[in-house]
Amino acid sequence: MAQWTECLQFGIRLAREASQVVLEAFHQQKDVMLKSSPADLVTETDQAVEKLIISSIRDTYPEHRFIGEESVAAGEPVVLTDSPTWIIDPIDGTVNFVHRFPFVAISIAFAVNKQVEFGIVYSCVEDKMYSAQRGGGAFLNGVPLQVSAQKDIHQCVVVTEIGAERDDLSLSTMTSNIYRLLKLPVHGVRAVGTAAVDMCLIATGGADVYYHIGMHCWDIAASTLIVSEAGGVVMDTDGSQFDMMSRKVIAASSAAVANRVSQVVQAFPCPRDDEDPSNHNIPLQNGH
Ligand code: IPD
Ligand code: CA
Repeated sequence: MAQWTECLQFGIRLAREASQVVLEAFHQQKDVMLKSSPADLVTETDQAVEKLIISSIRDTYPEHRFIGEESVAAGEPVVLTDSPTWIIDPIDGTVNFVHRFPFVAISIAFAVNKQVEFGIVYSCVEDKMYSAQRGGGAFLNGVPLQVSAQKDIHQCVVVTEIGAERDDLSLSTMTSNIYRLLKLPVHGVRAVGTAAVDMCLIATGGADVYYHIGMHCWDIAASTLIVSEAGGVVMDTDGSQFDMMSRKVIAASSAAVANRVSQVVQAFPCPRDDEDPSNHNIPLQNGH
């Protein structure tokens, strides 16, 4: 574990440095481009922040590999090997960023032998630095995190995301999942607009369970470790073992709550991140 501590500290410093670029642009007018759907946005700031992060890491760790959201959008394949690999979302919550809705995060995970060794989620506007190292616990601004003790689904606050999909099957599946959970009933359903921060809220105990279909590995690679190091449970939405490329996740305070959610939610078809040709070579279009 201690082997990668220096890389973790480097990543935390870099996330803070990169956040300056995000915060400077936050209140300014942005040129918005579209990716896979009219709600899948990207800005020059997303691209600039990813370039800054990757070039800084490459200068220090030239042998390391990368999976970055905007590099993939520009045509790079998603390939996770056993080599040390940084998995980067330069801005998680780009729709929030464009609209100045104040929850945007820089997400940086580091995997070796296909296992995440540490995760960093910096919620820039809130100035909340979440981090975890495998076997070392999870922290928010240096304070240890612990998931809630909740085991009863009826007492849960559930977090999910609406996502960027706008086709009928995805929308009807997503809305009926929310309907069925509300009918159980649960205490409430929330969506913050960034998968990374949503999951960190499970780690803080502020919410009890998160599920999502359609996010990408860069959205959740860091926060899955933060949840499990805070004592939570992470699985696929069908109850099987979590696979970061499958684009389906449940992260919960307890196995009981995770299993109950897996009985209720249904997944719509979603190509795996490491198999989806539409992840890359997407012609960027101007949004405005
Ligand atoms: C998205 C956000 C959003 C979620 C999407 C993600 P991005 O990431 O996490 O909350 O609904 O599925 O792809 O595009 O803002 O990095
Ligand atoms: Ca992003």
